[in-house]
Amino acid sequence: MSGLHLNNVSHAFNSGNPVLNGVSVFVAPGELVCLLGPSGCGKTTLLRVAAGLERLQVGQVTIGERVVAEGRHGKHIPTEKRGIGLMFQDYALFPHLNVLENVTFGLPENAADRRQWALSALSRMGLADYAASYPHILSGGQQQRVALLRALAPEPRVLLLDEPFSGLDVTRRVDIRDVFGQHAQPFRLRPQSACGYRQGFGKSAHGRSPDQRPRLARSRLRLDR
Ligand SMILES: Nc1ncnc2c1ncn2[C@@H]1O[C@H](COP(=O)(O)OP(=O)(O)O)[C@@H](O)[C@H]1O
Ligand SMILES: [Mg+2]
Repeated sequence: MSGLHLNNVSHAFNSGNPVLNGVSVFVAPGELVCLLGPSGCGKTTLLRVAAGLERLQVGQVTIGERVVAEGRHGKHIPTEKRGIGLMFQDYALFPHLNVLENVTFGLPENAADRRQWALSALSRMGLADYAASYPHILSGGQQQRVALLRALAPEPRVLLLDEPFSGLDVTRRVDIRDVFGQHAQPFRLRPQSACGYRQGFGKSAHGRSPDQRPRLARSRLRLDR
């Protein structure tokens, strides 16, 4: 079956109690799922396991038709060979590359159309004047937008975004969400469909103001501690 499939994944750090305990998630092609849950419940860990930044201990991860990690057999396809786009909380932009070079970093030499896309996407993100600037002069929110475009640029099969809109003020967040929805069209996401629980793990998330709700996501997966 295609899509992203985490099957019965468990993960513990330093042989302690498992942070993830038998978690199964299936994200269908074109589906956008939002992970919710209190701080420390394992959202980042789940994404890192899917990306291969954490070596899988128990369970199986499948992307498309390919098993990319299997705990029992120690199978581990490296992150860069999983066909995924990543954006993690620290943005991790390359300090020695300018903004445009950061966005186009993962593109093959002959991807002229995607380079053109990068320029127009920077413009739509309000970053046209910074294409030749280096990351250190950008604000956190600007760096976040560059990191988001870098993840989108190679048109990966799976996008894993850790708190992608957290560093943005409310107005910018709404703008970026719209831009992201449009850029996500090639992935055939369905940004406006109704939210619903794909799989419940118990407690609900509290204290979210309306602008923080994951409006792009069709499904929300709730993790509990
Ligand atoms: N590299 C690590 N070593 C030890 N503990 C970790 C490591 N990464 C995360 N943890 C612990 O795992 C738990 C889940 O963390 P995390 O996945 O970052 O949660 P969330 O993203 O939901 O806030 C936390 O208790 C955190 O302290
Ligand atoms: Mg986190």
